[in-house]
Amino acid sequence: MTRRYYVTTPIYYVNGAPHIGHAYTSVAADVIARFKRLAGFDVFFLTGTDEHGQKVEQAAQAAGVAPIELANRVAADFRDMYDRMAISYDDFIRTTEPRHAAGASALWKKLKENGHIYLGAYEGWYALRDECFYQEEELVTGPDGTRTAPTGAPVEWVKEPSYFFSLSKFQDRLLELYETHPGFVEPSSRRNEVISFVRGGLRDLSISRTSFNWGIPVPGDPKHVMYVWVDALANYLSAVGYPDGDAPRWDFWPPNLHLVGKDILRFHAIYWPALLMGAGLPLPERVFSHGWWTIAGQKMSKSLGNVLDPRDLVAEFGLDPVRFFLMREMPFGGDSDINRRAIITRMNVELANDLGNLAQRTLSQIARNCGGVLPERGTPTAEDTALLAQASLLPDIMHGQIDRQALTDALEEVWKVIRASNAYIDHQAPWALKKTDPQRMADVLRVLADVLRTIATVLQPYMPGSMDAMLTQLGVEEAERTFAALDTPLPAGRALPAPKGVFPRFVEPEAQ
Ligand code: ME8
Ligand code: MG
Repeated sequence: MTRRYYVTTPIYYVNGAPHIGHAYTSVAADVIARFKRLAGFDVFFLTGTDEHGQKVEQAAQAAGVAPIELANRVAADFRDMYDRMAISYDDFIRTTEPRHAAGASALWKKLKENGHIYLGAYEGWYALRDECFYQEEELVTGPDGTRTAPTGAPVEWVKEPSYFFSLSKFQDRLLELYETHPGFVEPSSRRNEVISFVRGGLRDLSISRTSFNWGIPVPGDPKHVMYVWVDALANYLSAVGYPDGDAPRWDFWPPNLHLVGKDILRFHAIYWPALLMGAGLPLPERVFSHGWWTIAGQKMSKSLGNVLDPRDLVAEFGLDPVRFFLMREMPFGGDSDINRRAIITRMNVELANDLGNLAQRTLSQIARNCGGVLPERGTPTAEDTALLAQASLLPDIMHGQIDRQALTDALEEVWKVIRASNAYIDHQAPWALKKTDPQRMADVLRVLADVLRTIATVLQPYMPGSMDAMLTQLGVEEAERTFAALDTPLPAGRALPAPKGVFPRFVEPEAQ
């Protein structure tokens, strides 16, 4: 039986154009999805757009269009960004789709039926930028005396009739969840924040609004629209066909991984499992929250207006260098600043020098000195065996890391093998063996070709286009690019296409 794997990104608000922050979470989810597919899993990779709520309604007003027009435009822009970044999503859900309204309404009815929803009146603080209710004690006072949300977002006092979800009833069950399933919230530093928030006491959550109407009507009381976060979180259910237990994708439930930024951990690690408990549904296995890209030390965000469009970076540096940079530069889970210098350094040192040269040196020598065909495997020396063994461990080591979302560590693991291969080629010096021992030269080049095949295979999830090119140059056919295929050596004598550098050095235009 094929094992299933269900991974999600946040569904992004359509109040502004996609930026590097969105591309980051989606590239990370894409790396994971592609890795699991190569490992033989049946993957469902879900992403989409969060189109309701006051924030989107106001953005539409400001743009002078109807909310749905703005949503159509921005959702299309996200898909365009995804296409240009090779995001291999299986489904793109929009919360304005009928299938989503059906799923979200069914969740609401189930919660109501189970006695977890009641009508009351909300009076308290709300931050529109975060679409989040805050408790009085959470607010911070700035130097000029204004009170804001802990995120820095402005808050307003809201008073309106509202339905509530009885979140407070779930406090103990949530604490038990974090205790018995420590992997449910990662990394652990964030888990501790979540635990202390829940221990501090949970109040019932206001889950409907009446002061505007851009949302899904509350079943049975259409004067109210659902709170945008209840609407949004339900996307993970509606995309797999909820409430239809016979829907073809329902078998993917529950998700293996919700990948989110740390800004929205509270919703995914507290509200979401409580809502699912209330509806009697199985819980996701894991919520992983990563850190923030900053520009000059400030979080990049639509609301702050300091955003970088990933497509501009791709136009300048190429897709795979940008994907690589995003996954390599920021230790997955931490924060990092993004700037051109850092991108160029990664490109030139790690891609052009370390990996690009290794491939180019190996392939050009095979082309020149082995008649352009893959040499036989020779009798391995101790050094050959050591390098081949180190490479052959990569898929398993990386799989463990990918399952822990240690995406940067997994790259470092590959670079250990790349550095060892560069040391090996320098030490074996096949160019010198050409005269003294051509047989050994061929053996060495074959070892390198085999190691490169493994390297290129495991790097496909990170840099699909360049690794496709590298595998083609190594004579590896489409069907031979999975992890399982690595157990079967390529037949000697296969003709290799003329080698061509995969990672050119980046030279600043003014220096050319
Ligand atoms: O919160 N660095 O949508 P959103 C890294 N609709 N990641 C960043 C980032 C940055 N500077 N800025 C944004 C919402 N992100 C809700 C989600 S889910 C049911 C509903 C990424 O458009 C990161 O993944 O504000 C963050 O959590 C997400 O974009 C927020 O996107
Ligand atoms: Mg946001």
